[in-house]
Amino acid sequence: MRNINILEPNLFFKSKKKLIDTLRKNQISTASKSIIKKFEKKISQLDGSKYVVPTNSGSSALYVGFKAVGVEKNDLIIMPSYTFVATANACLLSGAFPWFFDLEKKKLTIDLDQVENKLKLMSFKKGKFFYHKKTKQRIFAICPVYTLGFLPDLIKVKRIAKKFNLKIIADAACAIGAKYNKKSLALYNDVVCYSFNGNKSLTAGGGGAISTNNKVIYKNSFLLTTNGKSDQYFHKSFGLNLRITGIHAALGYGELNEFKKIQMKKNRLRKKYINTSQINYFETYFLDKNINSMIWLNFLISKKNIKSIFFKNAKRNKLNLAPFWTPMHLQPFLKNELIEKMKNTNFVWKKILVLPSSLNINSNDFKKIEKFLIKNSKFL
Ligand SMILES: Cc1ncc(COP(=O)(O)O)c(C=O)c1O
Repeated sequence: MRNINILEPNLFFKSKKKLIDTLRKNQISTASKSIIKKFEKKISQLDGSKYVVPTNSGSSALYVGFKAVGVEKNDLIIMPSYTFVATANACLLSGAFPWFFDLEKKKLTIDLDQVENKLKLMSFKKGKFFYHKKTKQRIFAICPVYTLGFLPDLIKVKRIAKKFNLKIIADAACAIGAKYNKKSLALYNDVVCYSFNGNKSLTAGGGGAISTNNKVIYKNSFLLTTNGKSDQYFHKSFGLNLRITGIHAALGYGELNEFKKIQMKKNRLRKKYINTSQINYFETYFLDKNINSMIWLNFLISKKNIKSIFFKNAKRNKLNLAPFWTPMHLQPFLKNELIEKMKNTNFVWKKILVLPSSLNINSNDFKKIEKFLIKNSKFL
């Protein structure tokens, strides 16, 4: 009996062929323009944005996004505490500091009412910008995280951002291909950041990208990922080598060609999990009707805090289940950052159970997972 993992890459045959073709053509490096351009164009077509800059990871995409919109040393960036650590670390690397907020009740996205109330209460305006009353830091940006593929109310994010003059950088690492009101995410955000890591719904083995409709942000991002180079060994601004390689772009391009199939498989699996949850009284959260997004990782919210015995039992049954993200406000190295009340985050993180969601989960695997969940429901 095979081990069932939470997520593992499952490349389509045509993507592997594309990779071999790229190897044959020796288009393997960061300078392999032709395949990298194709990859960029595919992302643009899928997400409806004007400009795309591929990167070597989603973490780099976030760093590039923050810097490209103009984040400066000591700025504050608003973000949910419930995220993968890359969101906070990319913010720190950009010289800014995170300001952590709670999740909305029964949603996995940032509590926008809490954000707006705190901004009203804790900020003052000087010139064009708003500053934090206590720390005097400029509040420059908001970074909503599209947790597991869930999106917040993007119109509300835009309204708050306009009111407090904030840039919007979306951490859409888990939400490739998502649409809001059938429209491109680039319309609602200054920058959208994606990850194509091996565990993502659509993988390039590793890699990421930023997409935007803003030409200046695009140009800034490009320079930031290419050592700030404007001519041979002439560097007009700061930058690093954060580019994707031809190898990864080839895989990503191949998988992007299969997006519809990936979406169909993911949606089918999600429906099955929702049925199981509903029949067996496990709690799940639903997407708002105006959001079209494939859920990266299926999950349920347990009635109790999930104990380690549950995970041990799973391992015995060859199910590699594990706890999920520990919120940022509970990470020792972030404990001195600005942290708001975390009622819903503290509720969710000990109760969330992420479920095997790879593209290769077959009906036998699913039956096994379902049987295990029901048999162990006393721990949930
Ligand atoms: C919400 C979120 N942001 C950022 C990242 C970082 O992406 P990468 O692993 O490609 O650096 C991830 C990766 O899982 C993520 O889940």
